[in-house]
Amino acid sequence: MAVLNYSSPSPPSLISSFKNSTSISHLFTVPATRRRSFPSFRIKSSLAVESPAASGTSNGGESPKILLQVKDLTAVIAQTEQPILKGVNLCIYEGEVHAVMGKNGSGKSTFAKVLVGHKDYEVTGGSIVFKGENLLDMEPEDRSIAGLFMSFQSPVEIPGVSNIDFLLMAYNARRRKLGLPEYSPIEFYAYIMPKLEVVNIKPDFLNRNVNEGFSGGEKKRNEILQLAVLGAELSILDEIDSGLDVDALRDVSKAVNGLLTPRKSVLMITHYLRLLEYIQPNYIHIMEDGKIIKTGDISIAKLLEKEGYKAVSAT
Ligand SMILES: Nc1ncnc2c1ncn2[C@@H]1O[C@H](COP(=O)(O)OP(=O)(O)O)[C@@H](O)[C@H]1O
Ligand SMILES: [Mg+2]
Repeated sequence: MAVLNYSSPSPPSLISSFKNSTSISHLFTVPATRRRSFPSFRIKSSLAVESPAASGTSNGGESPKILLQVKDLTAVIAQTEQPILKGVNLCIYEGEVHAVMGKNGSGKSTFAKVLVGHKDYEVTGGSIVFKGENLLDMEPEDRSIAGLFMSFQSPVEIPGVSNIDFLLMAYNARRRKLGLPEYSPIEFYAYIMPKLEVVNIKPDFLNRNVNEGFSGGEKKRNEILQLAVLGAELSILDEIDSGLDVDALRDVSKAVNGLLTPRKSVLMITHYLRLLEYIQPNYIHIMEDGKIIKTGDISIAKLLEKEGYKAVSAT
């Protein structure tokens, strides 16, 4: 789940802190919202595949800055020392959308989890720089405070804890770490309402327990809401399309598009062209055996869809 650090604190410790806190759900009566029409998809500037740096996303006249730079990253499974990542290179500029595709078992989720500092993996070589800082020196919690968040393939349910309480606590934890005063429930309400509209979630969703009884699409949209609330600068979305029907996929894609600003970036892992048609990436990378073996534009995904991974394989 996006607002939890993958390794610590664990959901149970968060749950117990909720049990000791006062619920604010009752403050949220449910005004009817207007559903916004589906926005047109972002049209990206033309692709310069050989030179990701050349991608021109507008951020108010300034030249785009590098958000994430991964160089020759290698990582093993901590317990068994089995190598999984075997030299990943990737550069993401502010405002860019990148997609990673690749066969099952190629290391996509491992890469995402290594970025957020999952304890199951040990980095054995290479570097990761995020916003100019060495990410590998940072604890998972500090990575999220720095603006790196991940949504997970199977978000956890937290019975007895309402979404709004959860979001307020997570948001205030981030504000505290950033040295900012905590938001009161009323301030938080004013902060979150426009975000609900952006991700197309009805306010009554806030009173429901976190992910409890949510449909697949609702869970995914809730994850996107968390990213929006926490103001992720780089959102890592691992197969947000898995298990969604066509309508839910459209809704979730709309939510992600609503989240994107010229400064915010997305790294999404997917198997499907359909998602990439909704959330148009600047670059598509193919991962094979723990490495990115090809980078291209949407035509790679079209080729994949038509001919399978053999068409883009390095072997
Ligand atoms: N925590 C783990 N323990 C054991 N094996 C793992 C673990 N994480 C990943 N692997 C193995 O590493 C390989 C890559 O997995 P993963 O990154 O999940 O691939 P993908 O997301 O591309 O399908 C797979 O063979 C998987 O079984
Ligand atoms: Mg995976």
